[in-house]
Amino acid sequence: MPPKRYSHRLISRYGEYVVSVPHKGMVDDVWIAGSLSGPSKLKHMNITLVPSKRVKTPSIKEALANIECKVIDSRDYGDHTFFIGEVVAYTYNRDTYRNHEPIPTAEFLAHIAWNKFITFSGEVLMPRK
Ligand SMILES: Cc1cc2nc3c(=O)[nH]c(=O)nc-3n(C[C@H](O)[C@H](O)[C@H](O)COP(=O)(O)O)c2cc1C
Repeated sequence: MPPKRYSHRLISRYGEYVVSVPHKGMVDDVWIAGSLSGPSKLKHMNITLVPSKRVKTPSIKEALANIECKVIDSRDYGDHTFFIGEVVAYTYNRDTYRNHEPIPTAEFLAHIAWNKFITFSGEVLMPRK
C-alpha cells in the first residue's frame, strides 16, 4: 500500500486492520471504498460498521467474512509498504461457507480490473457510477 493512502496512515498508527470479503450486492460500496479517500467516503456507502472481536477496527456487517489482523511486520519496497498481519479473529456468514470452504454459489465478489468485478459463477458486474 502506498503511504499516500489514508488507510496506510491508520494501519501504521493503530497496528491493526480488518479485511472484509464483499459479495455481489456490495459492488457499488466496493467501488466507492476503492475510489474515494478518507472517512468521508462512508457517507456515500451503504454499509453497517459493527464491533470486531479482537481488534478495535470495526467489521462490516454485510460482508461475507471479516478477517481481523494485527500488524506483526512491515517493510517498504519501492513506493509501497508491505504490511504483514497475523489473523487474531474472524467472523463469517454461516450461509456462505461449508466445512471451512466457501460455497461456490455464494456471491463472492472478485476484482478483474479497473471497474470490472466478477462472481465465482462468472457473472461480470460494474458499479453504477
Ligand atoms: C478493486 C480495487 C482494488 C484496489 N487495490 C488496491 C491495492 O491493492 N493497493 C492500493 O494501494 N490501492 C488499491 N486500490 C485503490 C485504493 O483503494 C484507493 O486509492 C482508495 O481511494 C484508498 O482509500 P483511502 O485513502 O481512504 O485509504 C484499489 C481500488 C479498487 C477499486
